[in-house]
This record gives sequence, structure tokens and C-alpha cells, in this order.
Amino acid sequence: TVQTIRDQLNRPMRDLRISVTDRCNFRCSYCMPKEIFGDDYAFLPKSELLSFEEIERLANIFAKLGVKKIRLTGGEPLMRRNIDELIKRLYVIDGIEDIGLTTNGVLLNVYGERLKDAGLKRINISLDALDPKLFGEINGRGISSNLILERIQFAKELGFRVKINMVVQKGLNEHQIVPMAKYCKENGLELRFIEFMDVGNDNAWSFKKVITKKEIIQLLSKEFNIDEVEKDYFGEVAKRYQYNDTETQVGFITSVSESFCSSCTRARLSSDGKLYTCLFAGNGVDLRSLVRSELSDEELEQTIIDVWEKRQDRYSDERTEETAKKYKKINMSYIGG
Ligand code: GTP
Ligand code: 5AD
Ligand code: SF4
Ligand code: SF4
Repeated sequence: TVQTIRDQLNRPMRDLRISVTDRCNFRCSYCMPKEIFGDDYAFLPKSELLSFEEIERLANIFAKLGVKKIRLTGGEPLMRRNIDELIKRLYVIDGIEDIGLTTNGVLLNVYGERLKDAGLKRINISLDALDPKLFGEINGRGISSNLILERIQFAKELGFRVKINMVVQKGLNEHQIVPMAKYCKENGLELRFIEFMDVGNDNAWSFKKVITKKEIIQLLSKEFNIDEVEKDYFGEVAKRYQYNDTETQVGFITSVSESFCSSCTRARLSSDGKLYTCLFAGNGVDLRSLVRSELSDEELEQTIIDVWEKRQDRYSDERTEETAKKYKKINMSYIGG
């Protein structure tokens, strides 16, 4: 039986975003800047990561509390060995209707078929620029956008539903907005423009670096005719629009200009097993040590209920230039976006 639990703002728990590793093969300037995540950076040792068994056990409990949708993130989730084995285990959990993966795409040539065999249907691939040189600079590893475009093509050929995520930063990749839109439209790919957020403490965020949905729509309107589309479900993150002359859609993730906390149904599990009730939370609840103790499933379940029922987070609703600087937040690569 599934029970619906509600937080202080009456929001149910519907999604679980699981970070499966804090490592990444990219060093995106806004997420894991090279200066901080250098060769000697101490990533979590394997013993501190949740094992697949532990993730499976927790996911079962979350499903009993209303979670229907799981998203696997990182760091880069394909850096976690045999991630397809985990997907297989999650798919058979009662109540889980949808599993998604958010990746930079580099390792899809290795994992694509295995993910398919594991039952995965949806992949969100990040690509911040079409320009190969600029993309190489943004990802900090000199990887060309052409490689990612190949991986995107491959994922489509394998039959995955693919969405593209583009984080837009003023002065960095705004001139890529229209080229990216054109490319994705022509190739039948749903592109989502993501407003640059103040996640973590290391990305030198300020309102001045944000390009809002409104500004992007102004740019797009010069080239295309688009109309807003109805939401698919309560708590959908992206606001979607449709091009008039194709089936293809384009979306906006407006965490800064039109926050969506009032319908935020997402719980987050970090790679070392902490439960966070917001992307911008400062502290998480250590589920790993509880999983590794003698606690029963029922006791674990009660802990999660208690955390959710106390939840009041609405960071993006209240964001100011000051809050962005003041709070110690958790790094995106560790909590998974
Ligand atoms: P779909 O199931 O395909 O709609 O996935 P998604 O858009 O929820 O997930 P994805 O990992 O592709 O995230 C896209 C962007 O939305 C990332 O930049 C996330 O950090 C951001 N995002 C997702 N959930 C939240 C949230 O609860 N709050 C905020 N502020 N941003 C979020
Ligand atoms: N602001 C907005 N989106 C971000 N992402 C990573 N860092 C940020 C940020 N500071 C995006 C990634 C990926 C998704 C999980 O989150 O590009 O698409
Ligand atoms: Fe890696 Fe994604 Fe962070 Fe880039 S945004 S460093 S690809 S986890
Ligand atoms: Fe949810 Fe926090 Fe994002 Fe608001 S800022 S939508 S509460 S994760």
C-alpha cells in the first residue's frame, strides 16, 4: 500500500532524484570548476557511496511513501560502474512508473545498449553550446560538442526519448540560444533552456548572469512561432512550448524568474546517502548510517516521513542576491541537480 505524505506546504512526495556518484568526467565552470575540483580533490571513497542494494532498499521505502518517478544523476551517473544493474533493480519496484537519467552523454557509447536492455526509456543530455570550441571551454575538458551530438544521435537510434538541457549564462553562451534551438528543432529534440542557478558555493552566481525565460522567448520569437503547452502533471519542472510547424517542443526551467517551489514534490538522495528536501538545502539527513544500522524498514520509513512532514523549503521563491551568498549550500555535483 502506498501512503501519501505531505509537507508543511501541503506538497506530496512524488519524485526521488538519486545521485549515484559525486565524480564527473567534465569540469563545467558552473558546477565543478577546475580550480576547486583539481587532481587532488577528495571524492567520496567507494565505501561511502550507497551500494546498489542500499539504494534499492531505500527506493522501495520511498515508493511506499508516494514516489513514482526516479531520476538518476551524479556527478556523472555513467561514471558509476554497472549503473544498468541498478536500473534493472529499480524498474521492478512496485509503484515506480518512470525512471530517467541525466547525463553529459560522453559515456553513452559504452552504456547505451546496456541501459536499453535494463529497460531505461528516457535520457536527458546536457549540452550548453553547439560551438565546439566554446563547449570545450565550458566543460573544462576540451570535449567537442560534435562528440555529444554523436552520442545524442546514438541514443535516439537506440530508441530513447531524449531531451537536451542547456544552462544559459549571460556573456558566456547566450549567442548559442538560437543555434541550439534550430539544431534541436530540425532534429526533433526537445531542448530545455535552464536559467543559471546559484547552486553550490563555487559558481560565482549573480542575478546579472541570468538570462530569463522572457529574454530567451524574445530571442526565439524573432526566428520561430511558438505557443505555450499545457502542463503534463502537477509539479512538472519545465514550462513547455510548441513550434507551430513541427511536433517538437521547447522548454524553460525558470528556477530564477518564475520559481516553482509551491509544486515541488522532489526528494533528493546524495551519493553518500543523505536525504535532502531541497536542491539548496544546507544539511541532509544521514540515511546511510541508518541503513547500515539494525533499523527495520518500518523505522527507516518513519524517519523519512518525519523529515518530509517537517519540510518547509522554498528556496527559489525567496532567493535574493544576499541569500545566494549567505547560505552554505550543497554542491550540485554531490546532490545531482
Ligand atoms: P524530466 O523528468 O525529464 O522533466 O526531468 P527534469 O527536468 O526534472 O530533470 P533534469 O535532471 O533534466 O533537470 C533539469 C534542470 O532542472 C536541472 O538544472 C535541475 O537542476 C533543475 N531542477 C530539477 N528539479 C529542480 C528543483 O526541484 N528545483 C530547482 N530549483 N531546479 C530543479
Ligand atoms: N544552474 C542551472 N543548471 C545547472 N546544472 C548544473 N549546474 C547548474 C546551475 N548552476 C544542470 C546541468 C544538468 C542538470 C542536472 O543541471 O547542466 O543539465
Ligand atoms: Fe559534470 Fe554535469 Fe556538473 Fe558538468 S554539470 S561538471 S557534466 S555533473
Ligand atoms: Fe524544490 Fe528547493 Fe527547487 Fe524550490 S528551490 S523547487 S523547494 S528543490
